[in-house]
Amino acid sequence: MKILVVGSGGREHAIIKKLKESKHVDEIFALPGNGGMAKDATLVPIGAKEIDKIAAFAKENAIDYAVVAPDDPLVLGCVDALNAIGIPCFGPEAKAAIIEGSKVFSKNLMKKYGIPTAGYEVFENPEDALRYLETAPIPTVVKADGLALGKGVIIATTREMAIAAVHDIMEDKVFGASGNRIVIEEFLEGPEVSVLSFTDGKTVVPMVSSMDHKRALDGDQGLNTGGMGTIAPNPYYTDAIAKECMQKIFLPTIRAMEAEGRTFKGCLYFGLMLTKDGPKVIEYNCRFGDPETQVVLPLLESDLLEIMEATTNGTLTEDMVRFSKGAACCVVMASEGYPGKYETGFEITLPEDGLVYVAGAKLIDGKLLTAGGRVLGAVATADTLENAIEDAYKLTKKIHFANAYCRKDIGQKALAAKEGK
Ligand code: AMP
Ligand code: GLY
Repeated sequence: MKILVVGSGGREHAIIKKLKESKHVDEIFALPGNGGMAKDATLVPIGAKEIDKIAAFAKENAIDYAVVAPDDPLVLGCVDALNAIGIPCFGPEAKAAIIEGSKVFSKNLMKKYGIPTAGYEVFENPEDALRYLETAPIPTVVKADGLALGKGVIIATTREMAIAAVHDIMEDKVFGASGNRIVIEEFLEGPEVSVLSFTDGKTVVPMVSSMDHKRALDGDQGLNTGGMGTIAPNPYYTDAIAKECMQKIFLPTIRAMEAEGRTFKGCLYFGLMLTKDGPKVIEYNCRFGDPETQVVLPLLESDLLEIMEATTNGTLTEDMVRFSKGAACCVVMASEGYPGKYETGFEITLPEDGLVYVAGAKLIDGKLLTAGGRVLGAVATADTLENAIEDAYKLTKKIHFANAYCRKDIGQKALAAKEGK
């Protein structure tokens, strides 16, 4: 089969490498992909948001199946456009992708169907929001309604910060139209868990759980980033919690979307916080997480394309999805300075062996050069989490580019949790 994967990051590289293992896959196109994927897929120089061009390319090249990985094209209706010309896809239609595309939608959905989440208020204008903040409990969390490159959430530890966030988002429109409405919600505390799931709209099959490390510096200090590393499985996510989440969160969400006439197919990502009052939803994403996918898919033993097609066809079953009992760790190597200013254009040398998913790189005259903040993920799987962490860090030592930076403590919190510290 000829497969098209829309997107360009480490997540997409992980999807492509896993799809290559499928016995059904003959050829993969990455659109636009990046230079680090050139050995694994044919790169197509079209932007992930250029929906008309994507559809035209898929038709001309007789693509059999498309995987739309990033949030933007999903929310913009890429799956709808491809389906309209007869190309089956992995991923939700726009009317279901709204579960990530609008926080107002997802919060109202959870309220209507009794799905546990932080208490919240929606505001359509800054005056009402500012009046509410005069007496709101602090800390509080201010969220732009729409997509904001993962930056639309402000944890306000003071009233002044919350007020500034309202001015920035609703008046100065730092996130554009995404800030026409905002959600102000209760600040929750507890360990965070990412659970990606496959769903065909009726059956939901969770993948192995994972833990992201969002801050730039060791000890969860510094600015928020797109993710500096991940481990799987997440030791906080016990079997008992998994069962509770299935009953109170996963199945109710899938049923709620169906009841709303917005049947969700593809990968639904549950961002959870394990609070003292039980697990609550922090966010939904309508897609695979990045860099969660980089630790989840290496542990998948089943044929990814068969699972993906089952989500499209409505034939997904639990026994189709098998994960190994081991653990995985991904250490993101970034350009020094990220998420602030950084330099690019440095040559990357990679070892012959080892699992490396490339995100921010381009191929110029046969040389792989850095081209982004997060450059790549060094990944290892092993029988235990300890060994996976050790092996991932050993792999980073074999990868070289000027100004490389990585956190040194990916997985340490998880190890401490495992040891009950
Ligand atoms: P998001 O961009 O939606 O992934 O949110 C970014 C991060 O903000 C989450 O991973 C949480 O760490 C934090 N966060 C979001 N909502 C809340 C909340 N209600 N209480 C505490 N932390 C939150
Ligand atoms: N790792 C968080 C996300 O993909 O949104």
